[in-house]
Amino acid sequence: MDGQMINAIYLGAAVLFILALGGLSSNENARRGNLYGMLGMALAIVATLLTPGVDRYGVIAVCMAAGAVIGFVLARKVQMTQMPQLVAILHSLVGLAAVSVGYATYFDNGNDFTVAEKTVHDIEVYVGVLIGALTFSGSVVAFGKLSALISSKPLLLPMRHGFNGLLLLLAVYFGVQFVGAESMDEAVFPLVAMTVIALIFGVHMVIAIGGADMPVVISMLNSYSGWAAAATGFMLANDLLIVTGALVGSSGAILSYIMCRAMNRNFLSVISGGFGSGGKSGGAGGAEVSGDVVATHVEEVAQMLRQAGKVMIVPGYGMAMAQAQREVAEVTRLLMARGVQVAFAIHPVAGRMPGHMNVLLAEAKVPYDIVFEMDEVNDDFPNVDVTLVIGANDTVNPAAMEDPGSPISGMPVLRVWESKTVVVLKRSMATGYAGVENPLFFKENTRMLFGDAKGNMGELVRALAE
Ligand code: TAP
Repeated sequence: MDGQMINAIYLGAAVLFILALGGLSSNENARRGNLYGMLGMALAIVATLLTPGVDRYGVIAVCMAAGAVIGFVLARKVQMTQMPQLVAILHSLVGLAAVSVGYATYFDNGNDFTVAEKTVHDIEVYVGVLIGALTFSGSVVAFGKLSALISSKPLLLPMRHGFNGLLLLLAVYFGVQFVGAESMDEAVFPLVAMTVIALIFGVHMVIAIGGADMPVVISMLNSYSGWAAAATGFMLANDLLIVTGALVGSSGAILSYIMCRAMNRNFLSVISGGFGSGGKSGGAGGAEVSGDVVATHVEEVAQMLRQAGKVMIVPGYGMAMAQAQREVAEVTRLLMARGVQVAFAIHPVAGRMPGHMNVLLAEAKVPYDIVFEMDEVNDDFPNVDVTLVIGANDTVNPAAMEDPGSPISGMPVLRVWESKTVVVLKRSMATGYAGVENPLFFKENTRMLFGDAKGNMGELVRALAE
């Protein structure tokens, strides 16, 4: 196929990727968005296979088959709650690919460059390998933290800003050496040295980020993996890879920014790996909380719900852990059938990945039009009779607003305690992801319904159905 035809197909694929991103912005269109993305990717693969010079179909077939089998098995096996670590390890592969392509294109001397072209190409290779290597090692550390293989506490080395600055200076120094090298032999050392520096930087950057900032790190690494892919596109002179990489890079950056705002973290301090974070994020802490906790039981909660005019449901990570979404949807259906007004309030970082709760509720067929974002419903709580907090903790913690010393101070939270009664479903008095005590459990209008959320919601279904 000639180059123009290939470019036309690439353009079509790029448009489909943009439509895919647009589709993913709302629950209703997400399925269509995914279809656009798949179609775009299929077109891109076909066009690439038909590109002049691409002829080792045997090798390509074996690699694609191996990738497809691994992807298929992973997608079948992975639990929803393990999604962030899966995404992290997949990002590491994008980084590794960028490094491999960088080395391969550099040492493949089939190109006949002018001096200026060679300089530009060398810079592309250098930057591509640098972003790829730090994406690779950063993603591996993020995977380790998210799967609890390494501690999620921020590890802050003394003089870490100085150390980061030194790594940056060394990377620039080796960059000058690399681009100015007279021969390939001379260029090897600076390239390898920079790769090692970028790997160390990736590890140091992510290891310094505390547990509470991990969602931002995931989307930030998503963004980095996009820029790594775009850099690969420059190295291979592949327009589609440049466009797609830029789309992933910029959408990841925007998502990181939105999440930072939702958690009241400074974007720059997070993306630069703990720079200026003051070590505030992540660890356990906050004021000691004490007082009386009032436990309740299913029959009492059922009674409250029967008498309520308006019920708000606030799901969190515990609902995902318990896989209680179907019972939650059934309770919703039963209450609505009784004429009770039911709405869902979703915190932007509830669960363990963006949109986690929305996906679960959609899977359980909760109607989209009763599911609201935090900002849409946070002022409604005073009009709510009963709020059911199902496995949420950090996202409903009043300490974020009331205790300036709390590690989550300033993080916007759902003000559930403003409703007439709050029922919290969880198994114990344990803290949530950020490891912070929650004064909500001790408030006068709070009732604790202890136990597994799926079991308790199931019993609630039976009680309400009677
Ligand atoms: P969390 O604060 O993590 O609290 C979840 C609560 O669920 C726990 O306190 C736990 O208490 C309870 N739970 C666990 N299993 C349960 C079960 N089977 N039945 C009933 N309850 C159960 O949840 P959240 O409010 O959704 O907050 C999310 C946190 O994760 C935030 O700190 C956020 O920053 C962080 N984070 C978010 C993301 C994204 S992007 N969403 C990604 C990574 C991290 P018990 O053990 O007592 O049951």
